[in-house]
Amino acid sequence: MIVVDRIREVREHCDRARAQGQSVGLVPTMGYFHAGHRSLMRAARAENDLVVVTLFVNPTQFAPDEDLSRYPRDLEGDRAAAELEGVDVLFTPPVEEMYPDGPPRTKVHVAGLTEGMCGVGRPTHFDGVTTVVAKLFSIVGPCTAYFGRKDYQQVAVITQMARDLDLPVKVVGRPLVREPDGLAMSSRNAYLGDAERSAALVLHRSLRAAAEAVVDGERDATRLSDGVRAAIDDVHLVQLEYIEARDARTLEPVERITDDTVLALAAQVRKTRLIDNVVLHTTESAIEVDMGMVMHEELS
Ligand code: PAJ
Repeated sequence: MIVVDRIREVREHCDRARAQGQSVGLVPTMGYFHAGHRSLMRAARAENDLVVVTLFVNPTQFAPDEDLSRYPRDLEGDRAAAELEGVDVLFTPPVEEMYPDGPPRTKVHVAGLTEGMCGVGRPTHFDGVTTVVAKLFSIVGPCTAYFGRKDYQQVAVITQMARDLDLPVKVVGRPLVREPDGLAMSSRNAYLGDAERSAALVLHRSLRAAAEAVVDGERDATRLSDGVRAAIDDVHLVQLEYIEARDARTLEPVERITDDTVLALAAQVRKTRLIDNVVLHTTESAIEVDMGMVMHEELS
């Protein structure tokens, strides 16, 4: 594996690979790798000749009052993890390389999909994400780019961007990976103290209970969301930001649950903002897979 921090260098590698007819797979990340990131690298490794992982804590997707300055970093650990997953190129640009003139004047904005859910509490976030991902697509020129469905709305937004702009890349959404106790893996879990970490389990527990209620016949989205809200309200360290039932493909709000509904939430566990979701199914067998447990066992 080579580690490069200049756009010119990573572009040279990718151009050369494509010129030789090789496929290029891209995994964009902000680092502090966990099994969720590694599952994306593994998928990319299985399907491509050249695997590029980008590690860039993108300042433009953080609001001024958010955690940019304390976002967890571990370049050495990340380098070792990427190497173990068979990554070919790890691209770690400094901020000045990505934004030499300061924040970019050109922004990619995906209307509609970015306004609800996480867009309510983080109104500038998705423009930062789509703009940097568009830049990374332009730099790397991937055939396929891999994203995790932990960030369910992000996958939908990036898929729409690629479609609207005819970007020559296949955007793949991969399953959410969880800790053995169900907590959705996140670099931000590193912020949680012991009490906060156990309190955070209510997020996964309440989504799972909702998924089970659907198997038992519940179809009313409001009742389902109210159940999740009540469970979370009972845990005093956790403050729910939103719980929403949405069409799993269009992200339109829904009132009735079908086999294509995602139930997604964001919550603050004291100062740490976490997200989680489950795709609902009316039959039991699908729950395990969508709650991500199987994925984790495969990885550990
Ligand atoms: P980051 O939070 O580092 O996540 C990088 C990728 O890993 C994203 O596609 C994310 O959805 C995926 N991921 C994170 N936790 C996961 C989990 N528990 N299971 C499966 N996949 C998981 O998302 C970003 O970075 C940034 O917004 C980025 C796309 C890199 C743009 O800056």
